[in-house]
Amino acid sequence: KRIKIFAPATVANLSCGFDVLGCCLDTVGDEMVISLHEDPGVKITKIEGADLPLETHKNVAGVAVEALLKKYDQPPGVDIEIYKKIKAGSGIGSSAASSAGAVWAVNHLLGNPFSPQDLVAFAMEGEKLASGNAHADNVAPALLGGFTLVRSYTPLDVIKLYTPEDLMMTVIHPQIEVKTSDSRSVIKTNITLKDGIRQWGNVGGLVAGLYTEDYGLIGRSLEDVIIEPLRSILIPEFNAVKEAAMSKGALGCGISGSGPSIFALSKGTETANHVATAIREVYDTTGLAFDIHVSKIN
Ligand code: HSE
Repeated sequence: KRIKIFAPATVANLSCGFDVLGCCLDTVGDEMVISLHEDPGVKITKIEGADLPLETHKNVAGVAVEALLKKYDQPPGVDIEIYKKIKAGSGIGSSAASSAGAVWAVNHLLGNPFSPQDLVAFAMEGEKLASGNAHADNVAPALLGGFTLVRSYTPLDVIKLYTPEDLMMTVIHPQIEVKTSDSRSVIKTNITLKDGIRQWGNVGGLVAGLYTEDYGLIGRSLEDVIIEPLRSILIPEFNAVKEAAMSKGALGCGISGSGPSIFALSKGTETANHVATAIREVYDTTGLAFDIHVSKIN
């Protein structure tokens, strides 16, 4: 049994929702080929497009599939081929795409014995290997699609949210690597009550805005008073990019996951394309290499 899949990129945090909110991009992602066979064992047989470990226990897809097979009676053998398009350390869920894609494909080939929530838990083992922390805000949208909320980690409670039709994502990926483990080390573990109130007000506002398709409310809620001030220092031209995006009508703009990618949400493709052009102009002045994607959320 064999399947070829698209493993999507994702934008985690969405400004206010550190470790809890994320969304799935429609057009940016990796390809993977997964096959099942009789001889037990999980093997990474091929990786193209990235210099990543082939040893199963060092590879996020390998670790995630092993977590799944541990819960399955009479586990089959699994071969995994990975064709990376999403660069490691880009902030658009590179490791999550591999972990989530691999467990989704194996579950599919086994006849779907596991629930999407189970798959999120297995894929989180890959995230733990990649960043030292089993966060679910990339793997959940990669597996469930659209916008997702991790309401709770213990016990795991992941919710798929509604996605307004016209919402478009512009993402710029400056070609520098920021390791999630490094950008997690710059954040503080204590916050003030004042900042907490502002942040969870925004999380509620964003979720309400998605369900009511209230683009103004979505825009007002895309604010991060806790993480962005600390992490944005690691990202060249972050403030200029944000200013450019907002001046072209973006609803909001912030760090994608742990960076260095920057995302902007817009209403409609035309605005999202204008935002892309404005951001491109900012980055053209830096001499840094970068990619820009405009994508639907799906
Ligand atoms: N929530 C995680 C972080 C996402 O910001 O560290 C990593 O992509």
